[in-house]
Amino acid sequence: MDDNPVGTGPGAITNDGCAVEFYALLPTVGEPEIVHAAVPPGASILELGCGTGRILRPLAALGHEVIGIDHSQDMLAHSPGLQTVCSPIQSLELDRAFDVVLLASQMINSDPATRQDFLATVRRHLRDDGIAVFQQSPPSWFEKLEHAEPVRETAGIRRVIRLARWEPPRMRAEIEYQVGEKTWTHAWTSYQITDEAMVDVLAAGGLRFGDWLTADHTWFTAYPA
Ligand SMILES: C[S@@+](CC[C@H](N)C(=O)[O-])C[C@H]1O[C@@H](n2cnc3c(N)ncnc32)[C@H](O)[C@@H]1O
Repeated sequence: MDDNPVGTGPGAITNDGCAVEFYALLPTVGEPEIVHAAVPPGASILELGCGTGRILRPLAALGHEVIGIDHSQDMLAHSPGLQTVCSPIQSLELDRAFDVVLLASQMINSDPATRQDFLATVRRHLRDDGIAVFQQSPPSWFEKLEHAEPVRETAGIRRVIRLARWEPPRMRAEIEYQVGEKTWTHAWTSYQITDEAMVDVLAAGGLRFGDWLTADHTWFTAYPA
């Protein structure tokens, strides 16, 4: 199976297939509030893979010092007011540790080698008394996608599931996004992590599982081991 991410559509497309113009249109749907409620007031927050700063801008407004990392300058250009660093996550060396490191957007569901590199960067930039916050595709997402309603529309964004090929532990998915006259597609591969395996995945990255932040097991915390 080809694991490579592929994106199509108008405007710049990142290495992992994300359409910059599409992400610039996306509203938040509670992500900043979930992170804010899980961390101390005024905590410094480093987001790995921050894109347009969709989650970080509201977190800054909630009183956090925020820094965003992304390998796409086109994405970062949408957050002129934010402190950002254009870098691959894997090789990031900021020489500073944060109260909170955030890895959202299902990036922990990357292939196992990339995932472990991401986790090493999380740990490297997390204070010994800090909190890591993750957003994953929960195990149930993998079981359900093949049978999900293929077309869904929310807030003017129409999502069409064009492919959902479940070959455990991998899901090859392709989604089409339509907003007005514009259409983007994004094909990528996600790796399921069961709740039991997550403990070991985190431990291999020097982290200890903390708490589920949402009942659907999408959001959770971890601490330095
Ligand atoms: C799905 S987008 C999500 C952006 C943001 N977290 C949000 O929720 O709006 C993933 C972002 O991670 C970035 N990214 C993916 N892999 C990366 C890597 N290895 N190093 C740096 N940035 C990466 C992409 O450029 C993209 O902006």
